[in-house]
Amino acid sequence: THVVAEPCSGCKYTDCVVVCPVECFYEGEQMLYIHPDECIDCEACVPECPVEAIFHEDNLPSEWESYTQLNADKSEECEVITEQKTPLAEPKDE
Ligand code: F3S
Repeated sequence: THVVAEPCSGCKYTDCVVVCPVECFYEGEQMLYIHPDECIDCEACVPECPVEAIFHEDNLPSEWESYTQLNADKSEECEVITEQKTPLAEPKDE
């Protein structure tokens, strides 16, 4: 599965959700989460994220290790998001 990590927090650009073929993104207050049972590892979302917040769980930087469990837990609690919306922040490199 893929995992949304810390860079998404406070951003929520939502470019990722529009390319996801299985609608596996769920919206928390500060960031999005991927449902591990729904993600098919197509990787379509990875290059779409302006802040590179999405990783395969095997490539997740060690400081964000806890996000694998966080995505699993929060994706159960949150509502699915399938449409782009206004982000919380501007991309950090613009
Ligand atoms: Fe977050 Fe990046 Fe998607 S900032 S909402 S993972 S495009």
